[in-house]
Amino acid sequence: MPGSPTEDSFRTIIEPFRVHSVEPIDLPTREERRAALELAHHNLFGLKARDVIIDLLTDSGTGAMSTSQWAGMMKGDESYAGSRSYERFRDTVTSITGFPEVIPTHQGRAAERILFSVMVESGEVVPSNTHFDTTRANIEYSGAEARDLVVAEARDTQSEYPFKGNMDVTALERTIAEVGVEQVPLVVVTVTNNSGGGQPVSMANLREVRSVCDRHGIPLILDACRFAENAWFIKEREPGYQDHKPEDIAREMFSLADGATMSAKKDGMSNIGGFLALDDQETAASCRNLLILTEGFPTYGGMAGYDLEAVAVGLWEALDEDYLRYRIRSTAYLADLARSAGVPTIRPAGGHAVYIDATRLLPHIPPSQYPAQALACAIYLEGGVRGVEIGSVMFGKPRADGTETPAAMELVRLAIPRRTYTQSHIDYVGEVLALVAAGADRLTGLKIVEQAPWLRHFTAKLAPVD
Ligand code: F0G
Repeated sequence: MPGSPTEDSFRTIIEPFRVHSVEPIDLPTREERRAALELAHHNLFGLKARDVIIDLLTDSGTGAMSTSQWAGMMKGDESYAGSRSYERFRDTVTSITGFPEVIPTHQGRAAERILFSVMVESGEVVPSNTHFDTTRANIEYSGAEARDLVVAEARDTQSEYPFKGNMDVTALERTIAEVGVEQVPLVVVTVTNNSGGGQPVSMANLREVRSVCDRHGIPLILDACRFAENAWFIKEREPGYQDHKPEDIAREMFSLADGATMSAKKDGMSNIGGFLALDDQETAASCRNLLILTEGFPTYGGMAGYDLEAVAVGLWEALDEDYLRYRIRSTAYLADLARSAGVPTIRPAGGHAVYIDATRLLPHIPPSQYPAQALACAIYLEGGVRGVEIGSVMFGKPRADGTETPAAMELVRLAIPRRTYTQSHIDYVGEVLALVAAGADRLTGLKIVEQAPWLRHFTAKLAPVD
């Protein structure tokens, strides 16, 4: 007897929700898309949302909220101090993470800025599996070095290693020995590892990192944006966790850390919000003092009461088994479509995104002509699908002689907003990728004609090479 459609007896894992309100999608023609791309100077950040058919720019704050979240928002208590919404938010975060100190922030990077301002000093080194751009930027802003120590398997895009987000623990020991324990104020583990392809970190690896930190008395902080997706990967892939509930796995992950920064725009299932959660009361008190300076009073920290409610509900929804099974499967589904279209992607599929390897698809375009940016533009032009370049436009380093040191990889990320697109939307993206792959050898490179001194990828203007 077949069970429910989420059990193994069915091949199709359906979206475990139905559409409750709809948002029309504009369908610009190819000519309109060509004009929009010109107007945006071949930079997809410059497009208007109405120019885009399927928007896979980011999974951050772009998901659909549930009926329960919208209902919760009606209960938003907008009291400046001590609101009921804060109590619900705090109790939820403490219940999932175990951390007693809960500081709301308007999004993840505010939590990072506050924590690093308190804990990190100039000249120190902060190791991570891979720092996300904003943690790296906030650490570097403190005058410290952000050092990535991901396992070697992560650098091989085709390796099927199940936990390519893991930290290289030997390299961590080596870093601590090299720079001196007093120069390492904390260790950050990003779950899942966004910049490394949305790859998970195993519980065993977290335990090993914890034991190194314990041995040296260094605090361990989780960058927990996609903690629920990481918990699901542990359930599916790590021996001994198959019968565990995602929330219990998440709790165990958090129990190995001293604190967490969180962007609720991801696994908080909300359009805005975040938090900093800590064990240590004294550190939390210093963080709250900074919070008041720029974010707001400690019981709202830059969020409206109704946002606190949306996140309090969303955090539990992100841990729902039917949702997580669908979520991780639907990302893998897009990766499978890409693969059968002849588009090489980072293997295995990540939790929130599919990462296309532009170097393999466009070997004729050198890194100096930004192959991943050219590919992202081609995907937009072909079908109105917007992804984001994670390559030399984002990470290339200008040299004194006017040339550039290219990024380590030339990728296009297609990030999937939560509960937003249906399988037919994703099938369409697969068709677009197949069309782009069929004409890949005719694609040409780009050059940068105008750029900002930092974070240039957001505003750079590009043009086709002559
Ligand atoms: N950490 C990770 C791993 C992230 O992916 C992000 C955001 C942040 C921190 C910062 O959170 O945006 O709320 O301030 N990632 C988005 C993305 C922007 O597109 O990957 P935030």
